[in-house]
Amino acid sequence: MSTAPTTSTRFNDRVAAMQPSATLAMSAKAKQLRREGRPVVALSAGEPDFDTPAAIGEAGAKAIHEGFTHYTENMGMLELREAIAAKFQRDNGLAYDPGQILCSNGAKQSIALAIHALCGPGDEVLIPAPYWVSYPEMTRFAGATPVPLPTTVDDKYRVSPEALEEAITEDTRLYIHCSPSNPTGSLYPREELEAIAEVLRRHEHVYLLSDEIYEYVVFDAEHVALASLPGLKERTITVNGFSKGFAMTGWRLGYLAAATEITKTCAKIQSQFTSAPSSITQKAGVAALEMMATDPAPVRAMVKAFRERRDYVLERLAAIDGVRCPTPEGAFYLFPEVSSFYGTTAPSGRRVDTSEDLCFYLLEEHDVALVPGHAFGAPKGIRLSYAASMDDLRTALDRIETGLSALG
Ligand SMILES: Cc1ncc(COP(=O)(O)O)c(C=O)c1O
Repeated sequence: MSTAPTTSTRFNDRVAAMQPSATLAMSAKAKQLRREGRPVVALSAGEPDFDTPAAIGEAGAKAIHEGFTHYTENMGMLELREAIAAKFQRDNGLAYDPGQILCSNGAKQSIALAIHALCGPGDEVLIPAPYWVSYPEMTRFAGATPVPLPTTVDDKYRVSPEALEEAITEDTRLYIHCSPSNPTGSLYPREELEAIAEVLRRHEHVYLLSDEIYEYVVFDAEHVALASLPGLKERTITVNGFSKGFAMTGWRLGYLAAATEITKTCAKIQSQFTSAPSSITQKAGVAALEMMATDPAPVRAMVKAFRERRDYVLERLAAIDGVRCPTPEGAFYLFPEVSSFYGTTAPSGRRVDTSEDLCFYLLEEHDVALVPGHAFGAPKGIRLSYAASMDDLRTALDRIETGLSALG
């Protein structure tokens, strides 16, 4: 007898309520059209289009050849956690003991662990919007309530201290900070972060989750670690990882650093769910941090390329009537506001009323894949990833320009 699930299978209510990832859905649709022979250019990816630097790959291969292929301790091997502690000291002026650091299968897992360790029914989690798609889903899965804090193009997609102050209630358990941001690329300059910190210091019951995964992808701007601001370290869980800065998305390695009690609680969940990341990946992670400390040229070269692409795409978008986009200082995304095109009709007769309609129009009629803003809690915009070659960016921007100017 078949045991395959049928439509009558009852799933956990929290799973049934979960939204699938819109970014992955758009990439899947783009891939399907490509398989059908369409010349789709995908600007929907959330990963660098660079290969992992050779020295890091070699360290992984060496681990395999030397038989370093067994379980490590659940928190990650001491050598890696010591290297991460040294990185915090060097880059962020933060002193962490290796016992306060937990390595996991990507930053995504670290974020999920922190949210589940701290939040439950009755708790509110403040999430500035546009937000990374997984924060609200993880929050709901933990039984807590996501509370979006909307920001606009005019705010450069940054929360003001006043808006934050107003949103905090006695039920606020966690504030999620992401700088540089996915999906906007926006980065909080030190003065603005200090003003945010001033508010957070007044509300001691609020924990802070600082997602700093784009720390190394910044353009002539200073990345400030939230935990480094006075009075916040004990309540801040800093999450970081190797995926973006070292082009290591497929290796799956991230980490968190927090007060010992919080890290230990996250480690307890990890010990029952997944255990430590791959031993091979951890060796590669040690090599990545060593490279960053001694010769970061491969990372710098990647960031330089991202910057050139950002400037090119911004210039092209600025030339399209009806598109508004702030200049982001980091990551590899732009989040233009495109709501002036809602309520229009394409020459094919297709109506465009939402960010989703606009993305499907551009994909199906102009062969460019972008991600609709509604997935990020910001329905006026769309996300464009410029982690693509200059040739692809030129082609895509020509098509976007043609597609948008045909709407009327
Ligand atoms: C803001 C943000 N945080 C966390 C992650 C997760 O990264 P990973 O799990 O690959 O380390 C991503 C990846 O897209 C991201 O954009």
